[in-house]
Amino acid sequence: MSSLRNSGLNIKALQVEYKSGQKALGQVDLTLPEHGIYTVIGSSGSGKSTLLRAVAGLLPDYEGELLFNGKSVHDQETLIGLVPQNYGLLPWKTVRENIRVAMKITRPAGGSREALEAEITHWLQSMGIAELAGRYPLSLSGGQQQRVAIARAFAIQPTILLLDEPFSALDAITRETLQQIFLDNWLAHPATALFVTHDVEEAILLGQKIVVMPSAKQDTPEILDNASVFAMKHEEKRNSDEFFEQSKRIRKVMLAKW
Ligand SMILES: Nc1ncnc2c1ncn2[C@@H]1O[C@H](COP(=O)(O)OP(=O)(O)O)[C@@H](O)[C@H]1O
Ligand SMILES: [Mg+2]
Repeated sequence: MSSLRNSGLNIKALQVEYKSGQKALGQVDLTLPEHGIYTVIGSSGSGKSTLLRAVAGLLPDYEGELLFNGKSVHDQETLIGLVPQNYGLLPWKTVRENIRVAMKITRPAGGSREALEAEITHWLQSMGIAELAGRYPLSLSGGQQQRVAIARAFAIQPTILLLDEPFSALDAITRETLQQIFLDNWLAHPATALFVTHDVEEAILLGQKIVVMPSAKQDTPEILDNASVFAMKHEEKRNSDEFFEQSKRIRKVMLAKW
């Protein structure tokens, strides 16, 4: 049994320095409840990717503690999915194969072949890309590749889902469509998620709380509650007074922290 204080993702006094000795991430203390989703916003160089890399276990060295339900996130049992900015797809494998490979690695025991293929089709359909199953990633648009990367992340059913500016390379309309599809998928399968963005609107649309990273490494992040916007229907968020108030609030914090 884990106490409330220890449930979810606990980031305690996390600090990162790369080999150069230069600080990449000042101190971060953050508790993200299990099945919660927070957005992380900050200027370029504020350490957003470093934060995700530390949680993903891709950094050999960091100071502090990273716990999930009271145990190290890097224990075998915590499956972590990372959606990097450049999609991270295998170019020599088809869309279907990309998802199959990831599922087989994370679920080696597996069921029948038919069940696996049906599940892959389900995840492709959930992202609206069933018809792309046989295509190779490099023959797809950026928006299509990003859908594949997200379908793959959901397909492995991770405990923790990390997304590093997944929509930043997309045009505004494609981005808005994917935000909606992503959120629908997340609501159906709520992994404990950190979603990094440098877009204020996106931060407000997708996070229950918004973590504003400081530019200065001696400063700490500011965490804003966003529950009232998050609870609204997605299509009504942008035009709401709450959304407008929240953007003003974030811009103010960002100006102070930049
Ligand atoms: N592999 C690395 N080696 C050395 N310094 C790095 C490395 N990756 C990032 N940094 C530095 O760490 C800081 C934070 O970078 P990063 O986490 O990529 O920020 P963000 O994702 O917010 O733009 C920056 O000053 C960057 O130059
Ligand atoms: Mg980054």
